[in-house]
Amino acid sequence: MKVVEAIEAIRNEVIAAKQTGLSIGFVPTMGYLHEGHVSLIEAARKDHDFVVLSIFVNPLQFGPNEDLDRYPRDFQRDEQIAQKAGVDVIFYPSVPEMYPTNMPMSIHVTSGVNVLCGSSRPGHFDGVATVVMKLLQIVQPNEAYFGQKDAQQLAIIMNMVDAFNVPVIIHGCPTVREEDGLAKSSRNVYLTKEERDEAPFLYEALKEGAKLIRSGETSRAFIRAELEKRLESGSGKVDYIDVLSYPSLEQSERLSGKVILAVAYVYKNARLIDNYIVDIQ
Ligand code: PAJ
Repeated sequence: MKVVEAIEAIRNEVIAAKQTGLSIGFVPTMGYLHEGHVSLIEAARKDHDFVVLSIFVNPLQFGPNEDLDRYPRDFQRDEQIAQKAGVDVIFYPSVPEMYPTNMPMSIHVTSGVNVLCGSSRPGHFDGVATVVMKLLQIVQPNEAYFGQKDAQQLAIIMNMVDAFNVPVIIHGCPTVREEDGLAKSSRNVYLTKEERDEAPFLYEALKEGAKLIRSGETSRAFIRAELEKRLESGSGKVDYIDVLSYPSLEQSERLSGKVILAVAYVYKNARLIDNYIVDIQ
C-alpha cells in the first residue's frame, strides 16, 4: 500500500492503474478509521481492482464553533487499518495541498439542506459538497462509496453528481453498529463512560418509531412526539428529531413511501447522529 500526499501523485497512481485496465473504487473519509469505514473499503474492494482511500479533515465543512481542532486523528493507526482492509493507495493531502488559496468559489447546496444537519450546521453541506467534488475530480474513480449513517450527506452527494454530470457511480452502504446498536463513529471516543452506556437509546428510539410506522402509524407529528418522549430521559440534548421522505428529505404530515427517521443528539463533547429508513408498503 502506498501513501501519497500530492494531488499530482494520486493522479499519476490512478492513471497508471487505469492504463493497465484496472477499475477504481474510492472511499473518502476524514480518518480515525473504524469498522464503518472498513465496510466501505470492503465494498469497494469487492467491486474494484484498485482501491483509493482519502483521509482529509476538511476545514470547509466545520462551523466556527465546531470540533475541527479536536477532531480525532491518528494516521499511523489508520494506515494499519487501511492496509489490512485492502486499500491500494491512501491519498493524504495537507490543507494547503487541497486549498492553496482561499477557495475562489464553492458549491452551494440548494436542495435538501433546510432540514436535519443542514439546518443545525449552516454551510456544512456546502463544505462537504465542495470537498467531495474536488476529491472526485482529483481521483476520478469509477465508483465511490459512502455510508447511509450520513443519509443527508449521501442524498446531497447523489444530487450533486447528477446535477453536475460527474461520471461516477455513488454507492450507499449500510450503517455499521456496535453490538449494543450504537452507530460507529469517529466521535464516539469523546463520550464519557455514562454517555457511552446511554447512547444506544438513540437507535432503540429510531427502531421503535420505525415499528410504529410499520404497524400503520402515518402521522409525522405523532412519531416525532414518540421519539422525543423516548429521548427525554437522556443526559444530553436533542438537536433534532425528524421524519422525512427519503431521499428527497421533504416534510409531509402524512407519511408514505420511503421515509427516514433521523436524530442528532448532543453530549458534552460529541454530537451523535443516527437514522433509520423505513419503506411504507
Ligand atoms: P467520515 O465521517 O470520516 O465518514 C467517511 C464515510 O464513512 C462517510 O461516507 C460516512 O457516511 C461513512 N461512515 C461513517 N460511519 C459509518 C458507519 N457506522 N457505518 C457505515 N458507514 C459509516 O463523512 C465524512 O467523513 C466527510 O463528510 C467526507 C464525506 C469524507 C467529506 O469530507
